[in-house]
Amino acid sequence: MVAIQFGTVMRESGIKSRVWQLAQTFVTVALPGASGSLSGCAWAGGKGAGVSAKSETETVMAKTDVAMKQSTLIDRNNSRQDAALHDWSRGHAEIPRGLMRPRTAAFVFAGVVLVVLLFASGTGRSQSAMSALPLAASTPAGNPSSPARIALGRQLFWDPVLSGNKDVACGTCHHPRFGYAENLDLSIGVDGIGLGGSRRFGRGTTIPFVKRNSQTILNVAFNGIDETGRYTPSAAPMFWDMRAVSLEQQALVPIKTHEEMRGNAYPEDDAVAVVVGRLAANAEYRTLFSSAFGGSQAVTADNLGKALAAFQRSLTATQAPFDRYMRGDANAMNASELRGMRRFERIGCANCHKGPMFSDFQLHVLGVPDNPKLPASDAGRDVPYAFRTASLRNLTMTAPYMHSGVFNTLEDVLEFYDDVRGRGGRRGGGVNRSRNPNVSRDQLDPLLQRLRGVDDDDPDLIAFLRALSDEEFDRTLPTRVPSGLPVGGRIQ
Ligand code: HEC
Ligand code: HEC
Repeated sequence: MVAIQFGTVMRESGIKSRVWQLAQTFVTVALPGASGSLSGCAWAGGKGAGVSAKSETETVMAKTDVAMKQSTLIDRNNSRQDAALHDWSRGHAEIPRGLMRPRTAAFVFAGVVLVVLLFASGTGRSQSAMSALPLAASTPAGNPSSPARIALGRQLFWDPVLSGNKDVACGTCHHPRFGYAENLDLSIGVDGIGLGGSRRFGRGTTIPFVKRNSQTILNVAFNGIDETGRYTPSAAPMFWDMRAVSLEQQALVPIKTHEEMRGNAYPEDDAVAVVVGRLAANAEYRTLFSSAFGGSQAVTADNLGKALAAFQRSLTATQAPFDRYMRGDANAMNASELRGMRRFERIGCANCHKGPMFSDFQLHVLGVPDNPKLPASDAGRDVPYAFRTASLRNLTMTAPYMHSGVFNTLEDVLEFYDDVRGRGGRRGGGVNRSRNPNVSRDQLDPLLQRLRGVDDDDPDLIAFLRALSDEEFDRTLPTRVPSGLPVGGRIQ
């Protein structure tokens, strides 16, 4: 079933890699010592002898490592599998260095032959880590979507009445002109004037920059989606450090945040109550809330979050060239984009950027540089310097990139990966270098260390990344909002 759906991709990604995937499966099953140790080395930070030792077995091992990587692309339970292998290898730490003795090598060879035969007979089944977006987003049980909720959420999204000084709206930093993100490295909220790259602080302000780059909310409805297309909207991870869960809960956070919307107008604990009070005092909002949620007391913090969530869930863009290609339109992607897609998987980008959103929705330490505009280093939250794998959807519209907004172009991003990993020749030894002085080399994510052969000058890869964008989406702003304030705040 899956194989049929991804048939085209499998044709494109080539028979060779598929054989290696299956060969790896064989090696994993029949020779747990070999693959377990390899995997263990990778997880221990690439410092183990298996990766760095120059032995005659290096080639086989490097290839097995490639296969390992590729097998993780197709394995739904890859992290569990890796963890199991890791545990296994720890329990077998004294396994001798020369893993691939002649007899073992013979076994591996026999395995590969077997696998080739299996492949030829058509029993091999495979699945790509990448797939098209669903055409519509699901809603959580507590907040079914309706035209009235979406319409109310849209008014709220553009109404600066939600901010302390009534000068910032959600749309100030999430604007359709920039794919519902912002063309600015670090956002400017309270006391800001202008839009995108020309937004600046008004004179004499004491408000600091927002700590991070604004994320797009286009397709945020799909946050948390896995490779099989499953996701739970009520548990969807939000923010670069995943500190909020679900659109419903996230929506109230900017209202409380000092530099985003609250400013010095009221204390954090009062913010939501003050804003709800403002809305309840407005007859037009009272009517809109009643028709969206029913009852005469419908203006509540809970419903404010639900309406904003319902509107944001309606902002989807699911017809990128990649999506159309995956749904069967063989002409939707050109030759360069297809070459780029193969490279994306081969290099190992898809080990983290996977599923329909091109994110595993996990935290990883990459050592991305801090933004020099900030007074202090941004260490994220629970795990030091770990940030969520960014979705690669709609990158054509959402520069600059990374949580700190330090890279202006996709070429800059590739240069970063090239720099951190190095090209390391055909077999890809790689160097591992941290670009953030607060992050040591050893802290870098194991999957980052597994990248092989990144090249900062790779037009095909860039073409593929651009093919993940769909520029046909709702770009409309309301002509007025119920408060009568300027739509979108001070963005003129
Ligand atoms: C001053 C600019 C600014 C304003 C105003 C603002 N945001 Fe954001 N938004 C950001 C930034 C910056 C981030 C990333 C913050 C982080 O990760 O710490 C973000 C993140 C988000 C996310 C998470 C997206 C994801 O994929 O995780 C959502 C959803 C969101 N904002 C919705 C809203 C809503 C709804 C409002 C209005 C109530 C709003 N924003 C107001 C700048 C802003
Ligand atoms: C170890 C997991 C991992 C691997 C491997 C990886 N990435 Fe990333 N990627 C991330 C994380 C995490 C972020 C966000 C980092 C941050 O902001 O600090 C990110 C951010 C990005 C961004 C910025 C997106 C935005 O909206 O700001 C791009 C583009 C990108 N990666 C492309 C790639 C490419 C191309 C490759 C392969 C060469 C790759 N990534 C390999 C985890 C990974």
